[in-house]
Amino acid sequence: MPRVNKICCIGAGYVGGPTCAVIALKCPHIRVTIVDLNQARIDAWNSPDFHLPIYEPGLEDVVRKARGRNLFFSSDVDKGIQEADLIFVSVNTPTKKSGVGAGSAADLNYVELATRRIAAIATSSKIVVEKSTVPCRTAESMRIILEANSKPNTRFDILSNPEFLAEGTAIKDLFAPDRVLIGSLQTSEGKEACQALCEVYRNWVPNDKILTVGLWSSELSKLAANAMLAQRISSINALSAICEATGANIDEVAHSIGQDSRIGSKFLRASVGFGGSCFQKDILNLVYLSESLNLKEVAEYWKQVVTMNEYQKRRFSKRVVDTLFNTITGKRIAVLGFAFKADTGDTRESAAITLIRDFQEERALVNIYDPQVEHSQIWSDLSEASPSMPLETIQRQVSICSSALEACRNAEAVVIATEWAEFKTIDWQSVYAGMNKPAFVFDGRLLVNAEELRAIGFKVAVIGRGE
Ligand code: NAD
Ligand code: UGA
Repeated sequence: MPRVNKICCIGAGYVGGPTCAVIALKCPHIRVTIVDLNQARIDAWNSPDFHLPIYEPGLEDVVRKARGRNLFFSSDVDKGIQEADLIFVSVNTPTKKSGVGAGSAADLNYVELATRRIAAIATSSKIVVEKSTVPCRTAESMRIILEANSKPNTRFDILSNPEFLAEGTAIKDLFAPDRVLIGSLQTSEGKEACQALCEVYRNWVPNDKILTVGLWSSELSKLAANAMLAQRISSINALSAICEATGANIDEVAHSIGQDSRIGSKFLRASVGFGGSCFQKDILNLVYLSESLNLKEVAEYWKQVVTMNEYQKRRFSKRVVDTLFNTITGKRIAVLGFAFKADTGDTRESAAITLIRDFQEERALVNIYDPQVEHSQIWSDLSEASPSMPLETIQRQVSICSSALEACRNAEAVVIATEWAEFKTIDWQSVYAGMNKPAFVFDGRLLVNAEELRAIGFKVAVIGRGE
């Protein structure tokens, strides 16, 4: 069995960075180099004051312990490839924006470029591991590219090892994963390569949590896991609409159904809609795969999960407009939270972006506060969401504030878009004193105690509650 002494990870993003930093921490005998074409990102990973490019609880501690010992960040991709026995490909796989499959298929250009680079540079045998989330049978394309371009006496074994970490809990998830999934060809070489990667994880993951399966099952399991998780949220959000119309309470409904051990209580929190870089893209990927296989009904089934999510976001912003007497023109709305979930600075597909765009279209004034998201990121997201609007026009309508209290001053309504813990301890008395009356709170994250707020004088609308 080949033994892994040197690992290279291509892609120093939300997955490659934390995943391989944890491998380095847990396997001091393995030299781990994380490479990326983005020099600014690499510089941030190497920054002397540990101002890392992504915010993730516990990450800084891991990087402090391993960086310079057996963990290195570099923009020298070729050197990283050349030296490694095992290479993780952890590059982005966004939804295609143009060409065949635009809007649903995965853009595999980054995976292909990384694969071609491996083939061009490698002069010794490598285990190449798909870490990125990819459509079923991508490993086959990688194998063909690698074999067609390999040098004499160089063999490549391809593994699929999808990542299941969630942002905000990445380090916790990596330290104690529910499972590690490794897919390989069922040949003796494929199984040996699989065992070599199992050995890496066995340094801290119990053996019974390391699942080994066929390559295609592994690739499909990743898409399936995200689709099933997102489907739960769309299901509870669909029920939240019924609750609002009937007077049922979504918290009580979620608790009641979650007690059934076959259903389980996790991931049943109604919200203003799921965001993040992966749920929508991976479901659309599954939809595209189903369509390509002529499985029209299957494609339609999964597509409905995304349709419901769009509906939930629109339904929420419409509720704000309806409640504020059918017009928010010229009214100030404080949006608390811009990240797609708490404990991350990531804003990809955040529901807040859609809400704010809807408020802008109604010609409202918007104050935004988020404890982690960089201001430049907010401006870039809002510009992308309204491409026909110059940034100066957006900046006349939207302000970024440095605290929740500041954002709420002189506002007519507060909209809670992200479940940051600090929003649970807001001094609502002071917020109320500074707002125009009647003062409204719209809770898109089931975060506030509505009764307490009503006692102060607020008018409160909570997702999944009809009162
Ligand atoms: P990301 O955009 O944060 O990082 C990808 C990095 O790859 C970028 O820094 C980019 O510069 C780099 N890159 C692209 N092509 C390259 C090349 N040829 N050579 C060197 N570097 C290159 O993306 P991410 O969020 O880390 O996601 C990576 C993959 O992992 C995606 O397929 C995603 O679906 C999957 N995934 C993401 C998460 C998550 O929580 N973000 C969780 C599980 C799986
Ligand atoms: C998700 C999965 O949970 C990970 O297992 C997976 O690895 C990852 O996608 C990926 O492939 O990228 P992530 O998107 O980081 O992780 O975060 P989640 O905790 O899943 O939240 C996604 C979105 O759903 C957030 O907007 C969150 O607020 C929302 N959500 C989550 C709800 O609205 N309700 C819930 O009950 C749970």
